[in-house]
Amino acid sequence: MTKTEKLWWQEAVVYQLYPRSFADANGDGRGDFEGIRSHLDYLRDLGIDAIWMSPCFPSPQRDHGYDVADYFDVEPTYGTLDDFDRLVADAKARKIRIMLDIVPNHCSSDHAWFQAALKAAPGSPERARFWFRDGKGPNGDEPPNNWRAIFGGPAWTRVTEADGSPGQWYEHTFTPWQPDFNWYNHDVLDYFDRMLVFWFDRGVDGIRVDAVPVLGKHPDMPDSPPAPPGLTDGQQWRYNIYGHFYPTAHDVWKRWRTVIDDYERTHPGRHLVTISESYGPPEELLRYMQGDEFHQSFAFDLMLITWLAAPIRAAITDSLDMLASVGGAPAWTLNNHDTQRIVTRLGRLNANDPAAWTGNNLLYVDAPIDLELGRRRARAAVTLAAALPGALYLYQGEELGLEEVLDMPDQAREDPLFIRSNGKELGRDGCRVPLPWTTDATTSYGFSPAPVAPWLPQPKDWADLSAERQVADPQSMLAWYRTVLAHRPLLSGDLQWVDTDLPECVAFERDGALILANVGPDAIELPAELVSGRSLILASQPDATMQLVPSDTCVWMSPAH
Ligand code: BGC
Repeated sequence: MTKTEKLWWQEAVVYQLYPRSFADANGDGRGDFEGIRSHLDYLRDLGIDAIWMSPCFPSPQRDHGYDVADYFDVEPTYGTLDDFDRLVADAKARKIRIMLDIVPNHCSSDHAWFQAALKAAPGSPERARFWFRDGKGPNGDEPPNNWRAIFGGPAWTRVTEADGSPGQWYEHTFTPWQPDFNWYNHDVLDYFDRMLVFWFDRGVDGIRVDAVPVLGKHPDMPDSPPAPPGLTDGQQWRYNIYGHFYPTAHDVWKRWRTVIDDYERTHPGRHLVTISESYGPPEELLRYMQGDEFHQSFAFDLMLITWLAAPIRAAITDSLDMLASVGGAPAWTLNNHDTQRIVTRLGRLNANDPAAWTGNNLLYVDAPIDLELGRRRARAAVTLAAALPGALYLYQGEELGLEEVLDMPDQAREDPLFIRSNGKELGRDGCRVPLPWTTDATTSYGFSPAPVAPWLPQPKDWADLSAERQVADPQSMLAWYRTVLAHRPLLSGDLQWVDTDLPECVAFERDGALILANVGPDAIELPAELVSGRSLILASQPDATMQLVPSDTCVWMSPAH
C-alpha cells in the first residue's frame, strides 16, 4: 500500500449494533447472532463497511454486556462461538467487517477473577488484580476515599471476608457489579494482550474501547478534589482527577498499540483499528492519538451541541484542526447507545436555544417535542455528517428515524443508571428498544419470530417505522440513508469552509463540490454566484432547488464547471 492510499477505517461507515435489541431469531425476546446474520443483506444494502457490536461476551447483563464475565467467549443467549464465527464469515462475504467493543476498565463481579478475589485474603495476588483497600474509621467501616460512582453512590463497596467478618472495600467506577481492574497488575496486562489476539485471530478487524478516560488511576487513591455543588454523581466524574485521567493509562494504550502493530506486521493484509470512547474537549482526545495509542477517537460534538450554524461549524473545525495536528481521521457520530436519539433531541422545540443544551449526553432541558421536525432535522444532520471527511459511525435504528422512547413504564426500565439514581436519571433504555423489522405487531414488529415480549417494550405505533414499510417507500428515512451513503464516495478532498453571509447556514466545499445545510427556520435563497455552473447531487428535502434551500435541509451540489 502506498502512503496516499487510505486505510479502510479512515472513511468507513460503521454501524453500531446493540446485539440485545437488533433481532431475535430464537424467540427469547432478546437479540442474538442468528438474528444479526439474517439481516446482513439489509446492512449491506444500507451501505456500511463495518459493524461495531456492543459487548457480546458472557455477562449477567446488569449493564447489558458492559459487565463482562469472560472475555474469551460469547454471551450464551446470543449464541455460541461457532455462531459468532459464522457471523464474521457471512459479514465478510458481504464486505462487512466486524469490530468488537472491549471493556477494559472493569469486568463483571461474576468474572472468575473477581469471585476468586472475594474468597482470597487481603493482600493476596487475587485481590491485587482489582482495587481492594481497607476502609477508614476505627472499624474500617467508611469507604477508603471520597470517590463517587458514575451511576450513583460511593465508588466503593465493602465485602464480607471468608470468616464472615466485615472486610475490605473494592473500588468501582460505575456500579458495584463492575469492579475496576488494577491496570498496574501484570496478570491484567497479559490477560488483555491475549484477549486482543484471540479475537483478531477470529477475524475481528477492530475494537471500540469503552470508557477510556476512567482507566487511569492514582496508585495511592487519594481523595478527589471537591466537585462544584449541585452535580449528580454522574456529572461529578470529570472532577475526580485521581480516579480517572491518571496519565499512567497511556502506558496501557501504548502497550495495546504494540500488540496491534505486531499483529498487523505478522499478518500481512490485515488492517486493524482501535477507536476510543472518550468524552472531552479536543485537546484531551488528542492525548490518545499521538500515533502510538489509538487510531481514532469519536468526535462526539455533533451529538452534544445545539442545532445552530455557529456551534456546528465550531464542532467540525475543532475536530478537524485537532486531528490535522496528528494526521488523524475523524469519526463523526450523531447517535449511540448512551444518548437520546437524534429525532427526539432535535425535535425538542428548544433544540436551537444554546441555553437548553447541557453538553452532557445524559442530560436534556425539557421542552415539547415535535417528532416530525426532529426527523426533518435528523435527515439534514446525517446528510451533513456523511459529507464530512473521515469515518461516520451510525447507531442502529437511526436509519429508521426511530425516536427515543420516553414514556416507558418505570418497572420496564433496566438501565443501572435509572436504577442506581432512583429514577433521578432517566437512563438509556429509551434508545435501546428492540428494532421494528416488519409491520406485524404480534411479533414485536418482526423483532422476534413468534409472539413473545421483547426485553424492552416498543411503542404501539412503530409499524410505520418498520424496515419493511420503509424499504418500500422511496421517501422514507431508510431510503434516504441508503441514498446518502451510496453518494458518499463522490466526495473527496479536504474540507474548505465557504463564507456565505447567509443566516444559519453551514457551507463547505470538498474538491469543489458544495455541501450546504440550512439549519434555520426559514428558507434560504442562494446567491447565483454560489450555484452557477453546479448541479444538485442530492437534497434532504424533495422541494429543495438550486435557488432555494428550505429550513432544516442539507444539499450537496457538484463542482462548478
Ligand atoms: C458505555 C456505557 C457503559 C459504561 C460502563 C460507557 O462508556 O458506553 O454503555 O454503561 O461505559 O461500561
